[in-house]
Amino acid sequence: MSTSRGIRVAGKKAFITGAAQGLGAASARRLAEEGARVTLADINIDGATRVAADIDAAWGAGTAWAVALDVTSEAGWIDALARADAAMGGLSVLVNNAGISRGGDIETLSLEDWKMVMSVNVDSVFLGTKHAMKYLRSNQPGSIVNISSIAGLIAGHNTPAYNASKAAVWLLSKGIGLHCAKQGVNVRSNSIHPTYIDTPILDPLRQRFGKAEADAKLGRQVPLGHIGEPADIANAVLYLASDESKFMTGAELKLDGGISAM
Ligand SMILES: NC(=O)c1ccc[n+]([C@@H]2O[C@H](COP(=O)([O-])OP(=O)(O)OC[C@H]3O[C@@H](n4cnc5c(N)ncnc54)[C@H](O)[C@@H]3O)[C@@H](O)[C@H]2O)c1
Repeated sequence: MSTSRGIRVAGKKAFITGAAQGLGAASARRLAEEGARVTLADINIDGATRVAADIDAAWGAGTAWAVALDVTSEAGWIDALARADAAMGGLSVLVNNAGISRGGDIETLSLEDWKMVMSVNVDSVFLGTKHAMKYLRSNQPGSIVNISSIAGLIAGHNTPAYNASKAAVWLLSKGIGLHCAKQGVNVRSNSIHPTYIDTPILDPLRQRFGKAEADAKLGRQVPLGHIGEPADIANAVLYLASDESKFMTGAELKLDGGISAM
């Protein structure tokens, strides 16, 4: 077992989607490291189970749980949230992280791929928040962290579905924050907007160009000169999940190496 566990989110009970790998896994690990209990939800249940086992090995049994969830399924959400609530003894943080991209410009993208991207990236945030609210209400203060993208704020010529879906997540986050504030519920909602981060989501490009060239190509588009690391995003998730960000709602954090400053 590891020894130096932090306390920045001690007592928090977090549900993280797409947590079998990449940013979801990094966020779950970081939250657990700072004292939270975590439920890792993913369609890849084997991957989520492996990450949960790692977390338990580091911080003790009863820190992490894995649940199978397809974030496009309303029945799946209802079931997974109930399980997480029972396992963790409540739910105070929802990290809507699961997301996908599909290639194709506005003329070549199929309607099927458009709907798939919108469903995984946007229906997920709607369904997850809709059904998590009753748990978050019972475990205030709560926090909803939605992983959008810098691509939700800045468009590309060949990513229409991804751009539109991530822009939807951006404004949906704000509406959720305002709803909670209006209701007098201490549940905040914010979005995170990363640029390219070193996760398997970059695999298609890396298969085309090789890892070094692909990463260098992407890095040249970033003022800081390189792509980001999962920890760069996990630390932002940690901040938004914690009470350190208690005055922040309906806002966005851009972790883009300077891209949006240009
Ligand atoms: N890595 C980047 O460069 C980058 C940049 C900006 C935004 N993002 C966003 O960050 C989030 C995480 O991306 P990542 O880089 O870790 O991607 P990734 O592909 O490494 O991981 C995504 C995870 O989501 C899971 N998933 C996919 N569809 C699902 C579904 N229907 N139900 C449940 N789980 C599902 C996958 O099994 C996988 O574990 C995504 O929303 C992505 O759009 C990533």
